[in-house]
Amino acid sequence: MNRVQDCRLIQLPKIPDPRGNLTFIEGERHIPFAIRRAYWIYDVPGGEVRGGHAYQALQEFVVALSGSFDVVLDDGHERRTVLLNRSYFGLYIPQLIWRHLENFSTNAVCLILASLPYDEHDYIRDPALFAQRQAPGSAP
Ligand code: TYD
Repeated sequence: MNRVQDCRLIQLPKIPDPRGNLTFIEGERHIPFAIRRAYWIYDVPGGEVRGGHAYQALQEFVVALSGSFDVVLDDGHERRTVLLNRSYFGLYIPQLIWRHLENFSTNAVCLILASLPYDEHDYIRDPALFAQRQAPGSAP
């Protein structure tokens, strides 16, 4: 079972340049998984919330490429809110962590790198099911 403490902020390389800064990321080097998919969330209307689920197997790395937003993490025991507001920092989230994204600034762009292709069957969208899954004594 993963815990909120297993989520961690990772600082990415930043090449400062008067022509404009550059940051990069390599799977299995800067983050602990091979990148199989990338998607991004943008044009979020004020007050909207994204996410609101956990994954059984998927690991993700979340970057605020532009603007800012909060990532709210919950393992069924503990809850933590992480503000992302720099394009050279990202948040690693292992599998089995409930998360939602909120407080998007105007023009925020959220890049998500994922360890697996899209699979709706990997989602846990029912909070009660997640709580049950995280309860002491439940199957690993
Ligand atoms: P979802 O993951 O529920 O969005 P959120 O970011 O709020 O958690 O995905 C929303 C919709 O987009 C859903 O119908 C599935 C689809 N989708 C894909 O087809 N491929 C993808 O890689 C992702 C992330 C979502």
